Amino acid sequence: MSFSTKADQLALVKESIIKDRICSELAAGSKQLVFGSGDPDSEIVFVGEAPGKKEDESGLPFVGRAGNFLNQMLELIALDRSKVYITNIVKYRPPNNRDPLPEEKREFLPYLQRQLEIIRPRLVVALGRHAGSCFMPHLIIGQDHGKAKRIALNFSDSELKIVFLPLFHPAAALYNGSMKQTLIDDFMLIPKIMELDILTKKIK
Ligand code: URA
Repeated sequence: MSFSTKADQLALVKESIIKDRICSELAAGSKQLVFGSGDPDSEIVFVGEAPGKKEDESGLPFVGRAGNFLNQMLELIALDRSKVYITNIVKYRPPNNRDPLPEEKREFLPYLQRQLEIIRPRLVVALGRHAGSCFMPHLIIGQDHGKAKRIALNFSDSELKIVFLPLFHPAAALYNGSMKQTLIDDFMLIPKIMELDILTKKIK
């Protein structure tokens, strides 16, 4: 039996990414690993794509322009950023902020799964298609955004049933007025999704 806290267990996962030399080329070209931040006991985890310049400098996810927008949307639904957990699929900054490569996402996926296995959230919100396709391989973000789905995450010796919500990426939406409004509208579904999830669990 393990008596370590979720934070202790997450710290070990962070160390193992470095020890296992995951994406060593990305690591060499970036300042630091951006592992995740927030409350490890949160019922909601947000998963983005990869760190940008500001995240690479600070070691924290979503602290640049996209992060400010994410903070504003969290405020809209009365959620404090410190009360949720935020991470990315790829945890080193890709050069010139290029899209993460499929093999980079593949290499990092077991570590994201491990984070979720430890945190055991009820809702996972994917920010953008790169994060979304880790949970729904055939995701088409233009069609699937804002549609919550119950899925099971299979870990080595357990299963976790979650609600999965794919959303547009805040950085993409910032520069496109209609996408921005759609993202805000989709984001506002989060409280209702959490409430419905509790209600449906009661009648099961
Ligand atoms: N975009 C992301 O996907 N993640 C970050 O941490 C910052 C910007």
